[in-house]
Amino acid sequence: MKSLHKIQSNRMQYGYIGCIIRMFHFIFRQVGVVWEKFYYLEKELTLNDAEAACNTNYTIQVLTFDDFQKGDISYFTKAKLINIKKQLLDKTYIPYGIIKNKKLAYSAWISLKTLPLPYGFELNLKENEGALFDDYCAPEFRNQGMHSAVLRHRLGQLYRYGKNKGVVVILTGNRPALKAETKAGFKTTKKLTILKIFDNKTMIWK
Ligand SMILES: CC(C)(COP(=O)(O)OP(=O)(O)OC[C@H]1O[C@@H](n2cnc3c(N)ncnc32)[C@H](O)[C@@H]1OP(=O)(O)O)[C@@H](O)C(=O)NCCC(=O)NCCS
Repeated sequence: MKSLHKIQSNRMQYGYIGCIIRMFHFIFRQVGVVWEKFYYLEKELTLNDAEAACNTNYTIQVLTFDDFQKGDISYFTKAKLINIKKQLLDKTYIPYGIIKNKKLAYSAWISLKTLPLPYGFELNLKENEGALFDDYCAPEFRNQGMHSAVLRHRLGQLYRYGKNKGVVVILTGNRPALKAETKAGFKTTKKLTILKIFDNKTMIWK
Protein backbone atom coordinates (compact mmCIF):
# COMPACT_ATOMS: atom_id res chain seq x y z
CA MET A 1 0.00 0.00 0.00
CA LYS A 2 2.82 2.35 1.02
CA SER A 3 4.79 1.42 -2.14
CA LEU A 4 1.72 2.01 -4.33
CA HIS A 5 1.29 5.45 -2.79
CA LYS A 6 4.98 6.23 -3.45
CA ILE A 7 4.67 5.10 -7.10
CA GLN A 8 1.55 7.26 -7.62
CA SER A 9 3.25 10.26 -6.07
CA ASN A 10 6.37 9.73 -8.27
CA ARG A 11 4.18 9.40 -11.37
CA MET A 12 2.54 12.77 -10.59
CA GLN A 13 5.88 14.42 -10.03
CA TYR A 14 8.15 12.82 -12.65
CA GLY A 15 5.69 11.53 -15.28
CA TYR A 16 5.50 7.89 -16.50
CA ILE A 17 9.05 7.60 -17.88
CA GLY A 18 10.51 9.53 -14.94
CA CYS A 19 8.67 7.21 -12.55
CA ILE A 20 10.24 4.13 -14.21
CA ILE A 21 13.67 5.79 -13.96
CA ARG A 22 13.02 6.47 -10.22
CA MET A 23 12.26 2.74 -9.78
CA PHE A 24 15.65 1.83 -11.32
CA HIS A 25 17.36 4.23 -8.90
CA PHE A 26 15.51 2.55 -6.04
CA ILE A 27 16.70 -0.91 -7.14
CA PHE A 28 20.31 0.31 -7.46
CA ARG A 29 20.12 1.81 -3.95
CA GLN A 30 19.17 -1.60 -2.52
CA VAL A 31 22.57 -2.93 -3.66
CA GLY A 32 24.50 0.08 -2.31
CA VAL A 33 24.75 2.17 -5.49
CA VAL A 34 23.43 5.74 -5.51
CA TRP A 35 23.52 7.64 -8.77
CA GLU A 36 21.51 10.84 -9.20
CA LYS A 37 21.62 13.75 -11.65
CA PHE A 38 20.70 17.29 -10.65
CA TYR A 39 20.39 20.69 -12.24
CA TYR A 40 22.29 23.44 -10.40
CA LEU A 41 20.32 26.68 -10.70
CA GLU A 42 21.29 30.23 -9.77
CA LYS A 43 19.47 33.56 -9.51
CA GLU A 44 20.63 37.07 -8.75
CA LEU A 45 18.73 38.49 -5.78
CA THR A 46 17.60 42.11 -5.74
CA LEU A 47 15.27 44.36 -3.77
CA ASN A 48 12.47 43.16 -6.12
CA ASP A 49 12.75 39.72 -4.54
CA ALA A 50 12.23 41.18 -1.07
CA GLU A 51 9.17 43.10 -2.31
CA ALA A 52 7.69 40.19 -4.33
CA ALA A 53 7.94 38.00 -1.22
CA CYS A 54 5.22 40.07 0.50
CA ASN A 55 2.61 39.33 -2.23
CA THR A 56 1.47 35.87 -1.30
CA ASN A 57 -1.94 34.46 -0.38
CA TYR A 58 -0.47 32.23 2.32
CA THR A 59 0.74 32.92 5.85
CA ILE A 60 4.33 31.77 5.81
CA GLN A 61 6.11 31.36 9.12
CA VAL A 62 9.44 30.24 10.58
CA LEU A 63 8.86 26.65 11.69
CA THR A 64 9.59 25.10 15.07
CA PHE A 65 10.23 21.47 15.91
CA ASP A 66 6.58 21.16 17.05
CA ASP A 67 5.43 22.25 13.59
CA PHE A 68 7.39 19.44 11.94
CA GLN A 69 5.61 16.99 14.22
CA LYS A 70 2.36 18.05 12.51
CA GLY A 71 3.72 16.89 9.14
CA ASP A 72 2.99 13.96 6.84
CA ILE A 73 4.32 10.96 8.80
CA SER A 74 5.39 9.11 5.67
CA TYR A 75 7.96 11.87 5.02
CA PHE A 76 8.67 13.13 8.55
CA THR A 77 9.82 9.77 9.86
CA LYS A 78 11.60 9.40 13.22
CA ALA A 79 15.01 9.50 11.48
CA LYS A 80 14.02 12.63 9.54
CA LEU A 81 12.80 14.35 12.74
CA ILE A 82 16.10 13.57 14.51
CA ASN A 83 17.94 15.18 11.61
CA ILE A 84 15.61 18.22 11.72
CA LYS A 85 16.27 18.62 15.46
CA LYS A 86 20.03 18.73 14.74
CA GLN A 87 19.55 21.12 11.83
CA LEU A 88 17.51 23.50 14.02
CA LEU A 89 20.47 23.85 16.40
CA ASP A 90 22.57 25.23 13.55
CA LYS A 91 21.37 28.80 13.11
CA THR A 92 22.62 28.94 9.49
CA TYR A 93 19.67 26.69 8.54
CA ILE A 94 16.21 28.30 8.78
CA PRO A 95 12.92 26.49 8.04
CA TYR A 96 9.81 28.19 6.66
CA GLY A 97 6.39 26.76 6.03
CA ILE A 98 2.62 26.89 5.98
CA ILE A 99 0.35 25.43 8.64
CA LYS A 100 -3.16 24.71 7.39
CA ASN A 101 -5.97 23.06 9.38
CA LYS A 102 -3.42 22.34 12.16
CA LYS A 103 -1.30 20.35 9.69
CA LEU A 104 2.12 21.15 8.31
CA ALA A 105 1.11 21.69 4.69
CA TYR A 106 4.46 22.95 3.38
CA SER A 107 8.00 23.10 4.71
CA ALA A 108 11.28 24.24 3.19
CA TRP A 109 14.64 25.59 4.34
CA ILE A 110 17.18 28.22 3.53
CA SER A 111 20.84 27.79 4.24
CA LEU A 112 23.41 30.55 4.66
CA LYS A 113 26.66 28.50 4.54
CA THR A 114 26.29 25.07 2.93
CA LEU A 115 23.86 23.33 0.61
CA PRO A 116 23.00 19.89 1.98
CA LEU A 117 22.28 17.28 -0.70
CA PRO A 118 20.77 13.82 -0.32
CA TYR A 119 22.87 10.79 0.69
CA GLY A 120 25.32 12.80 2.81
CA PHE A 121 26.66 15.05 0.02
CA GLU A 122 27.09 18.78 0.67
CA LEU A 123 28.22 21.88 -1.24
CA ASN A 124 29.94 24.88 0.33
CA LEU A 125 28.42 28.27 -0.50
CA LYS A 126 30.30 31.50 -1.20
CA GLU A 127 29.79 34.42 1.22
CA ASN A 128 27.25 36.12 -1.12
CA GLU A 129 25.25 32.94 -1.77
CA GLY A 130 22.24 31.49 0.04
CA ALA A 131 20.63 28.16 -0.75
CA LEU A 132 17.11 26.74 -0.85
CA PHE A 133 16.67 23.10 0.09
CA ASP A 134 14.42 20.30 1.32
CA ASP A 135 11.04 21.51 0.07
CA TYR A 136 8.13 19.27 0.91
CA CYS A 137 4.43 19.77 0.29
CA ALA A 138 2.03 17.30 1.93
CA PRO A 139 0.29 15.43 -0.95
CA GLU A 140 -3.21 16.79 -0.18
CA PHE A 141 -1.97 20.39 -0.53
CA ARG A 142 -0.03 19.97 -3.78
CA ASN A 143 -0.61 22.00 -6.92
CA GLN A 144 -2.17 24.91 -4.97
CA GLY A 145 0.76 27.27 -5.43
CA MET A 146 2.38 26.71 -2.02
CA HIS A 147 5.79 25.88 -3.47
CA SER A 148 5.82 29.04 -5.54
CA ALA A 149 4.72 31.16 -2.53
CA VAL A 150 7.27 29.71 -0.08
CA LEU A 151 9.96 29.98 -2.76
CA ARG A 152 9.30 33.71 -3.23
CA HIS A 153 9.22 34.22 0.54
CA ARG A 154 12.59 32.53 1.00
CA LEU A 155 14.21 34.53 -1.80
CA GLY A 156 13.11 37.67 0.06
CA GLN A 157 14.56 36.29 3.30
CA LEU A 158 17.89 35.45 1.65
CA TYR A 159 18.10 39.01 0.33
CA ARG A 160 17.40 40.33 3.85
CA TYR A 161 20.21 38.11 5.16
CA GLY A 162 22.52 40.02 2.80
CA LYS A 163 22.75 37.42 0.02
CA ASN A 164 22.74 38.55 -3.60
CA LYS A 165 22.67 35.10 -5.16
CA GLY A 166 20.24 32.25 -4.58
CA VAL A 167 21.20 28.68 -5.48
CA VAL A 168 19.17 25.51 -5.65
CA VAL A 169 19.80 21.96 -6.79
CA ILE A 170 16.88 20.06 -8.38
CA LEU A 171 16.67 16.42 -9.36
CA THR A 172 16.36 16.18 -13.17
CA GLY A 173 12.77 15.34 -14.01
CA ASN A 174 11.22 17.05 -10.97
CA ARG A 175 8.71 18.94 -13.12
CA PRO A 176 6.86 21.09 -10.54
CA ALA A 177 10.07 22.23 -8.84
CA LEU A 178 11.79 23.05 -12.15
CA LYS A 179 8.71 24.93 -13.37
CA ALA A 180 8.40 27.05 -10.22
CA GLU A 181 12.12 27.85 -9.95
CA THR A 182 12.35 28.80 -13.64
CA LYS A 183 9.28 31.02 -13.26
CA ALA A 184 10.95 32.73 -10.29
CA GLY A 185 13.95 33.60 -12.49
CA PHE A 186 16.38 30.76 -11.74
CA LYS A 187 18.62 29.56 -14.57
CA THR A 188 20.41 26.24 -14.86
CA THR A 189 24.13 26.99 -14.91
CA LYS A 190 25.61 23.53 -14.30
CA LYS A 191 24.68 19.88 -14.02
CA LEU A 192 25.76 17.73 -11.13
CA THR A 193 25.91 13.96 -10.82
CA ILE A 194 26.41 12.34 -7.44
CA LEU A 195 27.77 8.83 -7.31
CA LYS A 196 28.04 6.75 -4.17
CA ILE A 197 29.19 3.15 -4.30
CA PHE A 198 29.01 1.79 -0.76
CA ASP A 199 31.02 4.45 1.14
CA ASN A 200 32.91 5.93 -1.84
CA LYS A 201 31.45 9.28 -2.83
CA THR A 202 32.13 11.35 -5.98
CA MET A 203 30.56 14.46 -7.50
CA ILE A 204 30.81 15.05 -11.26
CA TRP A 205 30.14 18.56 -12.67
CA LYS A 206 29.24 19.41 -16.27
C1 LIG B 1 7.89 19.86 -5.73
C2 LIG B 1 6.78 20.25 -4.73
C3 LIG B 1 7.45 20.87 -3.52
C4 LIG B 1 5.86 21.28 -5.44
O1 LIG B 1 4.92 21.77 -4.50
P1 LIG B 1 3.50 22.41 -4.89
O2 LIG B 1 3.08 23.29 -3.78
O3 LIG B 1 2.60 21.34 -5.33
O4 LIG B 1 3.91 23.31 -6.16
P2 LIG B 1 3.05 24.51 -6.79
O5 LIG B 1 1.57 24.21 -6.61
O6 LIG B 1 3.56 25.81 -6.29
O7 LIG B 1 3.39 24.33 -8.33
C5 LIG B 1 4.57 24.82 -8.94
C6 LIG B 1 4.39 24.75 -10.45
O8 LIG B 1 4.48 23.38 -10.88
C7 LIG B 1 3.27 23.02 -11.54
N1 LIG B 1 2.99 21.65 -11.12
C8 LIG B 1 2.48 21.25 -9.94
N2 LIG B 1 2.42 19.90 -9.92
C9 LIG B 1 2.88 19.48 -11.12
C10 LIG B 1 3.11 18.20 -11.71
N3 LIG B 1 2.81 17.08 -11.06
N4 LIG B 1 3.67 18.16 -12.96
C11 LIG B 1 3.99 19.28 -13.62
N5 LIG B 1 3.82 20.53 -13.12
C12 LIG B 1 3.28 20.62 -11.89
C13 LIG B 1 2.21 23.99 -11.07
O9 LIG B 1 1.18 24.13 -12.00
C14 LIG B 1 3.02 25.25 -10.90
O10 LIG B 1 3.22 25.90 -12.15
P3 LIG B 1 2.37 27.24 -12.50
O11 LIG B 1 2.79 28.27 -11.45
O12 LIG B 1 2.84 27.58 -13.86
O13 LIG B 1 0.94 26.86 -12.39
C15 LIG B 1 5.90 19.04 -4.32
O14 LIG B 1 5.47 18.37 -5.47
C16 LIG B 1 6.62 18.06 -3.38
O15 LIG B 1 6.61 18.22 -2.15
N6 LIG B 1 7.31 17.06 -3.93
C17 LIG B 1 8.07 16.12 -3.12
C18 LIG B 1 9.41 16.70 -2.62
C19 LIG B 1 10.21 17.42 -3.70
O16 LIG B 1 10.33 16.98 -4.83
N7 LIG B 1 10.80 18.57 -3.35
C20 LIG B 1 11.49 19.44 -4.29
C21 LIG B 1 12.94 19.51 -4.03
S1 LIG B 1 13.63 20.89 -4.92
